[in-house]
Amino acid sequence: MTVSRRSFVGGFAAALGTLKIGPEVDLFAQTRPGQGGAGAARAARSPMDDYDTLAHLSSNENCWGPSEAVVEAMTQGFKYANRYGYPGGDIVSEIAKHHGVKTENILLTAGSGEVLDVVGTTYLMNGKKVLGVEPSYSSVYQHATSIKSTAIKLPLGKDYRQNIPAIVKAANDHASELGFVYLCNPNNPTGLVVTKDEVKQLLDGIPAGMPVLIDEAYHHFVEDAKYATSVPYVLEGRPVIVARTFSKIAALAAMRLGYAVAPAEIIQKMRPYSMGSINVAVKYGGVAALKDTAMQADVKRKTIELRKKTSGELEAYGYEVIPSETNFFMVHIGREIVPVIEEFRKKQVAVGRPFPPMTTHMRVSIGTAEEMDRFMKAFKEIFPAKTKTTAAGA
Ligand SMILES: Cc1ncc(COP(=O)(O)O)c(C=O)c1O
Repeated sequence: MTVSRRSFVGGFAAALGTLKIGPEVDLFAQTRPGQGGAGAARAARSPMDDYDTLAHLSSNENCWGPSEAVVEAMTQGFKYANRYGYPGGDIVSEIAKHHGVKTENILLTAGSGEVLDVVGTTYLMNGKKVLGVEPSYSSVYQHATSIKSTAIKLPLGKDYRQNIPAIVKAANDHASELGFVYLCNPNNPTGLVVTKDEVKQLLDGIPAGMPVLIDEAYHHFVEDAKYATSVPYVLEGRPVIVARTFSKIAALAAMRLGYAVAPAEIIQKMRPYSMGSINVAVKYGGVAALKDTAMQADVKRKTIELRKKTSGELEAYGYEVIPSETNFFMVHIGREIVPVIEEFRKKQVAVGRPFPPMTTHMRVSIGTAEEMDRFMKAFKEIFPAKTKTTAAGA
């Protein structure tokens, strides 16, 4: 059976309409449904009636959708939709092969958000805390709160980068209180990387045996040669857990697939806390996505091209942009972000939620060329042109 992307997506949309199920993505929050942390933003959520007409620049999604090969593979998977134990397309061994690790080093999850939760549950249930920076992807901190743990959050350093010496110092100062360290690389919402030298400095400097969760959700978009994945540390046997997702480069956010790469004994510790419930379609789609390197290269190229174009236009208009390595960027708007989100929303453009304490910055995801044009038009209607400043302000 073959299926075009249009017919698959069209059929799915029709099913949503019939069942009156709306997409669950919160237009103003990047946390996952069911998490409480973005409560205020969620309360302000607008009806989804105009979902399809919005420019979706709020959740760092892949606007182009999965490739034909991936859609076809998912469609093939449906022949097992009525089964429990079915051949899963070898997704775990394909991921292991992709990273040069063993299958015992992989935990398959429903999105990488589940990895973040599972690490939290595994290492914080005994009253320990997580150490990380703020702003970062707050899901880890929200999960800590939900299981009655807390986080030690350090401010970003100069130029909005993660201050590795400060993290190392805090990890040593608070060693007995900590369950693990969280490092989002590249960081969301700034889009900035922690270099491979800095990751080494972190891992060598913190107390031996302290687990480090390294969230590489945006790994595939990075160009900076000073960045590298931390998977080799897993092979060295260090207590490192790398979280990866199919939601971004592979455009499978709604299908929910992610995984952890970690030493086998850590995977064993975490497995009881994972759901173990991945849908059959995405198991097949994931295998195809891993192999579709041409699609990944194309998405990366288009994303970077549009990010550079829009950033350049904003800078020419007088606004400072943090140089991102991801499929989103932050622009310094010099005003509180909350009412601005609503102003964009009225113009059918959804932009990122507030990221305290950087509340005079706006996070913008990369969308299609047409969506980025709509964003720039709205930006110019909302903000006046400025003579370019040299400092972004903190
Ligand atoms: C840094 C980071 N980690 C993890 C996730 C979770 O993504 P998913 O659960 O779709 O894999 C996101 C989603 O935006 C993210 O930005």
